[in-house]
Amino acid sequence: MPATLCRIELRKHLRAARKALTHSQQQHAAKAIARQLENLTFYQHAKTVAGYLANDGEPELTETIAQCWQNKKQTTLPVLHPFSKKHLLFLRYCATTPMQFNRFNIAEPVLSATDICLLNQHDIILMPLVGFDVQGNRLGMGGGFYDRTLSALDPNHRPVLIGIAHDCQKVDTLPTASWDIPCDYIVTPSMVQRNPGCATPESHLHKSAQ
Ligand SMILES: Nc1ncnc2c1ncn2[C@@H]1O[C@H](COP(=O)(O)OP(=O)(O)OP(=O)(O)O)[C@@H](O)[C@H]1O
Ligand SMILES: [Mg+2]
Repeated sequence: MPATLCRIELRKHLRAARKALTHSQQQHAAKAIARQLENLTFYQHAKTVAGYLANDGEPELTETIAQCWQNKKQTTLPVLHPFSKKHLLFLRYCATTPMQFNRFNIAEPVLSATDICLLNQHDIILMPLVGFDVQGNRLGMGGGFYDRTLSALDPNHRPVLIGIAHDCQKVDTLPTASWDIPCDYIVTPSMVQRNPGCATPESHLHKSAQ
């Protein structure tokens, strides 16, 4: 894809590409992504993982989240912040969590102060994306929700940020803006991409690399 496409055109093109995936391609992608994650040593050791509920053709994380529960990991989901415009909160999520639909028609845990999990209490944040490039830059849906929320991260004590994507979300070079928060890793059904600037040592990637 030409690197010169603007963000709006790229979003349109890449959203159409993922929405065109068949049900069986989506099922395959969800399983393959769950396997890729399971294979990462630092992921195996993670205790608290933020996920998302898929929307708009994003890879499903249902299997990944169920796997976390099996492995006694705590999982959270993003919730639209009730006061801070276009910010997210992360709330603990388990099989019995009461859910409601937000204004984007995405299910989210019903807000409860005791279930809020702070950013720095996460080991890993799995983020949906519309596009990514070889540098780990991330293009989202255009709301700036993740960018705003993650701008508050403490650089010395922060979760590993993993962008979850279909392979067809990759572009050579994304046009980036000063506020964009890049991913440490991108995981697709076919690969794990460790990005420049990633804080996790490469030796933490796979068991075989230790
Ligand atoms: N840290 C921030 N503070 C204030 N405004 C921000 C911040 N980050 C992003 N924005 C605003 O959000 C808008 C959308 O940003 P952008 O196009 O990068 O969204 P996105 O990365 O596609 O979405 P998301 O972060 O929800 O996945 C921009 O107009 C930008 O000014
Ligand atoms: Mg952005």
